Amino acid sequence: METIAYDIVIVGGGAAGLRAAIAAAQISDGLSIALVSKVYPMRSHTVSAEGGAAAAFGEDDSTDLHAFDTIRGSDYLADQDAVEAFVTEAPGEIIQLEHWGCPWSRQPDGRLAVRAFGGMSVHRTVFAADKTGFHLLHTLFQTSLKYERIVRLDEFFVTSLLVHDGQCSGVAAIDLRDSEVRCITAKAVILCTGGLGRIFSFTTNAAINTGDGMALAYRADVPLKDMEFVQYHPTGLPGTGILMTEASRGEGGYLVNKEGQRFLEEYIPSKMELGPRDILSRAIMQEIEKGRAFDGPYGEYVHLDIRHLGEKKIDEKLPFVRELTTKFVGIDPVHEPIPVRPVVHYMMGGVDTDIEGRTPLPGLYSAGEAACVSINGANRLGSNSLTECLVFGAKVGEQAARDALEAPAPAGDSEAHQAEAEQERLISAYLDKAGGRERIAPIRRDLQAAMERGAGVYRTEESMKEAVEEVRALKERFRDLALFDRDRAFNTELVAALELENMLDVAETVVASGLERRESRGSHTRRDYPDRDDERFLTHSLAFFTPQGPRIEYGDVTITRWPPAERKY
Ligand code: FUM
Repeated sequence: METIAYDIVIVGGGAAGLRAAIAAAQISDGLSIALVSKVYPMRSHTVSAEGGAAAAFGEDDSTDLHAFDTIRGSDYLADQDAVEAFVTEAPGEIIQLEHWGCPWSRQPDGRLAVRAFGGMSVHRTVFAADKTGFHLLHTLFQTSLKYERIVRLDEFFVTSLLVHDGQCSGVAAIDLRDSEVRCITAKAVILCTGGLGRIFSFTTNAAINTGDGMALAYRADVPLKDMEFVQYHPTGLPGTGILMTEASRGEGGYLVNKEGQRFLEEYIPSKMELGPRDILSRAIMQEIEKGRAFDGPYGEYVHLDIRHLGEKKIDEKLPFVRELTTKFVGIDPVHEPIPVRPVVHYMMGGVDTDIEGRTPLPGLYSAGEAACVSINGANRLGSNSLTECLVFGAKVGEQAARDALEAPAPAGDSEAHQAEAEQERLISAYLDKAGGRERIAPIRRDLQAAMERGAGVYRTEESMKEAVEEVRALKERFRDLALFDRDRAFNTELVAALELENMLDVAETVVASGLERRESRGSHTRRDYPDRDDERFLTHSLAFFTPQGPRIEYGDVTITRWPPAERKY
């Protein structure tokens, strides 16, 4: 078994992972840093982020106002000390990206342009047309290349965390070129693996978003926090789930039902299309239930109408929306409205961390969508997540680097044994397994369908109980899985099986946490408990791994300056 030793191992090559790598490299030129990713970093899901990144820049803005909007948007579940750190450091990160070459869109006088986004009181979202993630990821990637001490292990799939004497001391990862497990030791391991949208069938998320980092942490006894809070974005393209960016509404687009009404007048007249995502998604679902939506081959939908913005503005500010609708639905939004419906977009919950990205397991850290700091609470505001990746990516990279400078290197023997055991497990459970009647695709399809039914925009005790039982049954079926492909070179079926194993674990935490939260808050809307219940549930859920399924405990929410109040717009 080959053992490779680094000071810091970062799992995930998206915005948070790259930002963490750069921050760690800047702390000391004596640190060795490995960036381990199952895909080439420019294929990370960050690349598909569209609308922008929030930071308080404008003359009419302040960090306090950004904090208040974020906390109100979170339905008062965000940790306010984390939010304060976030809003304070956000503008500096945006300027840093500017200095590294990010082509932010500008106002005519050369200052950074800012656009409106849902739930924000003022224009505070900086952007690069509607391809912000693409430009941001390029900027971070090219910056990371300047540091020779950042070594990339592309197309390595991490299958388990190595833990010795209560300390995370590395990862076991399959080198996809030959399906051999490598033992990679480290003084600090940072999980930046993004979200889990693929546990649902209708999602904006890339195929790679299978909750890998969350599952790794969970199985290493690190709790997953607030997993019941799944964000539905109001405007996905029916069929594919491709995101129609909120920037369409930020730039002035309308949502219209089949009766030609801007129906948000009935739900959130003060904000209309610039309401937060949870409220808008519920409004669209209610329009569907009232029979005021259009019917199409991929289900019911409403219209996103940007025709009145005109071709010039659409081409300048929303070129990707035009490109995507033209290519994927044959609609030119300059002339026709776009069909849209709520779509799973983002995970508010994740690996339990503190503000510096430390998890309860010494040596293990996390940032970005994989983590729950928590600044997003029960509902994230659009455009806070790219900034979250930057702010907390930088913080976790610095913290892990400082800790690694003080820590002894892992001895390596126990880690090598663990990695060897992992290699044997993969061979016996997958590559050389005899028998097995189940296949990946049907289990994955049934999981996605169960999650859509059980953990949708609206939930009930019954729907969540059923989903808990269905996921458990699917985990049983998974034990009988067999692979067709036993080849060792780039065995994508093996990767899909390991991803499915992760999906099943994290899905179980979503429905188990949701079942126990008997209130409605932010994105978690229970028909049977329609009100927010601060007395019982102003608290973070914490899902701990047990072989029988998640054990749910609760932890305190940090309130600093904004006492919980009715969430009014
Ligand atoms: O609609 C969007 O552009 C998405 C932005 C976000 O999720 O922050």
